[in-house]
Amino acid sequence: MCGIVGYIGSKPAYPILVKGLKRLEYRGYDSAGVALIDDNQQLNVYKTKGKVSELENFVIQKNISGNIGIAHTRWATHGEPCSENAHPHFSSSESLALIHNGIIENYAVLKEKLQAKGYVFKSSTDTEVLVQLIEYIKITNNLDLLTAVQLALQEVIGAYAIAVIEKNHPEQIIAARKSSPLVVGIGDGELFLASDATPIVEYTDKVVYLNDEEIAVLSNGTELKVVNLHNAEITPDVKTVVMNLGQLEKGGYSHFMLKEIFEQPDCIHDCMRGRVNVEGTNVALSAVIDHKEVMLRAKRFIIVACGTSWHAALIGKQLIENFCRIPVEVEYASEFRYRNPVINNEDVVIAISQSGETADTLAAVELAKSKGAFIYGICNAIGSSIPRATNTGSYIHVGPEIGVASTKAFTGQVTVLTMLALTLAKEKGTINQEDFLEVVGELNSIPEKMKEVLLLNDKIAELSKIFTYAHNFIYLGRGYSYPVALEGALKLKEISYIHAEGYPAAEMKHGPIALVDAEMPVVVIATHNALYEKVLSNIQEIKARKGKVIAVVNKGDTIISKIADICIELPSTIECLDPLITTVPLQMLAYHIAVCKGMDVDQPRNLAKSVTVE
Ligand code: AGP
Ligand code: GLU
Repeated sequence: MCGIVGYIGSKPAYPILVKGLKRLEYRGYDSAGVALIDDNQQLNVYKTKGKVSELENFVIQKNISGNIGIAHTRWATHGEPCSENAHPHFSSSESLALIHNGIIENYAVLKEKLQAKGYVFKSSTDTEVLVQLIEYIKITNNLDLLTAVQLALQEVIGAYAIAVIEKNHPEQIIAARKSSPLVVGIGDGELFLASDATPIVEYTDKVVYLNDEEIAVLSNGTELKVVNLHNAEITPDVKTVVMNLGQLEKGGYSHFMLKEIFEQPDCIHDCMRGRVNVEGTNVALSAVIDHKEVMLRAKRFIIVACGTSWHAALIGKQLIENFCRIPVEVEYASEFRYRNPVINNEDVVIAISQSGETADTLAAVELAKSKGAFIYGICNAIGSSIPRATNTGSYIHVGPEIGVASTKAFTGQVTVLTMLALTLAKEKGTINQEDFLEVVGELNSIPEKMKEVLLLNDKIAELSKIFTYAHNFIYLGRGYSYPVALEGALKLKEISYIHAEGYPAAEMKHGPIALVDAEMPVVVIATHNALYEKVLSNIQEIKARKGKVIAVVNKGDTIISKIADICIELPSTIECLDPLITTVPLQMLAYHIAVCKGMDVDQPRNLAKSVTVE
């Protein structure tokens, strides 16, 4: 959601800024813009609705020179996507230009105050209020930009990552954050700014993740300076990022989503590296071992997450309850944070987030922390806000996920949750050695089995053509497969815009069965496990109403293949690990249906990869 890029140094800024915006495209946006100060201290702002490529067309023949600049991709919250509302926003005198990610919640009050002083607004955004406020404070008190930004931010309620430049001061960018991510890259005599490290890694691996209410002063030729809103200096914590550029490119695949689906065997392998031993006989998640006392003492786990990560949490609940015999509650972070939940210091709260920046999940973490709970993060983006806010945690190590529809992060999250449950169960003594060895051994063989599933890609691409007519889909599963049904349905609706519902298979007869007719495709996860016969009956109920059944079964299934319209045959594994296998064909099905329908798979409409506003 929204991308911020900044550059100051000796190179032309524009190419670096635009390349950076392209690297951030995956986050989701609706308009783009750039501000540059040229050698004659001209501050030029260009912005357009639509893609970064449209911005590139727009600036042809325009003055894009300058060694300092800021650029932005906007995901509209206040005011429709259009060039007036796109960032950067000028101040009234046009001497300041500002970009912003987040929401200024008290913008209406501030706007009225400024209007009363004669300020006129060109956009409907909350952001323009901030740049005008900074200018107003600066002019009326005769202050420098840094001090004016500090004072303005003290008046602001809400979330922000901002960058501001000033026409007469081409030697500095002022940037600040609160609840929205911002990273500074430290190069050789040059400084970079971005919403995450992806635009920075091709220039430097030295980064500083800003903390809430910190302001960075990026000055030409001098070291990075970080201060707080009250001007106390903070020593920047310089980190080294490990990310290779290949991870940020499509590498021959037509979409990032397809590449990420195909990366899953390697990702799961990476996720288990150093945690499951090579023989597949032991698993140890260091964060669980290091915090054994608090983890063993826990009377309850609460898992908070959103979207796909919430689906992974539902699988985590079953894993932890089955193996560790501790009750687990799964909560939407957005509901949890606002409903005064009962939390105490014997609770362990697990926060799951691919991006590590989801505003609701971060707020749920802060709330649980304030009530004394111990917080365990399961995240992908290294150095992001959630891992920094938690007491401990485990990265899923699946590499940057660029496709907006989450794929490899989901299987990575489920893998970490499995390792967490096994490590804890062993420490608690709630699993016997035979079962432990069976699960670890099977977990170790998942990457090879996933590779087998990926061989079905052509078959699934072929059958997807049949379903482009559909306006609705139902996905059904029971037990561990119920969250997989939810996830399959979410994938389809996100990228193909076909309405899809996931249901526990038995719940179907309590309502959704009314929707079933000869047109309705129903995807049923019917792998061979304890609930197989029950699911078989559910399939019969759908067929009796002429629904089109796409059954996800195990190889060699002779019963369901006779009843279902289409069978997708998968290698078998043990029930608790089934989601790691059955999710993959559902990702491919959604992908190919969306491709057949000509949809923008990697950047579906209205969606953002990193939901940094609540
Ligand atoms: C997944 O396909 C979605 N785009 C979305 O539901 C996502 O899982 C959700 O926004 C949570 O994101 P997070 O894991 O980065 O916190
Ligand atoms: N709230 C601002 C706007 O609507 C910023 C949105 C964003 O984060 O891109 O313009």
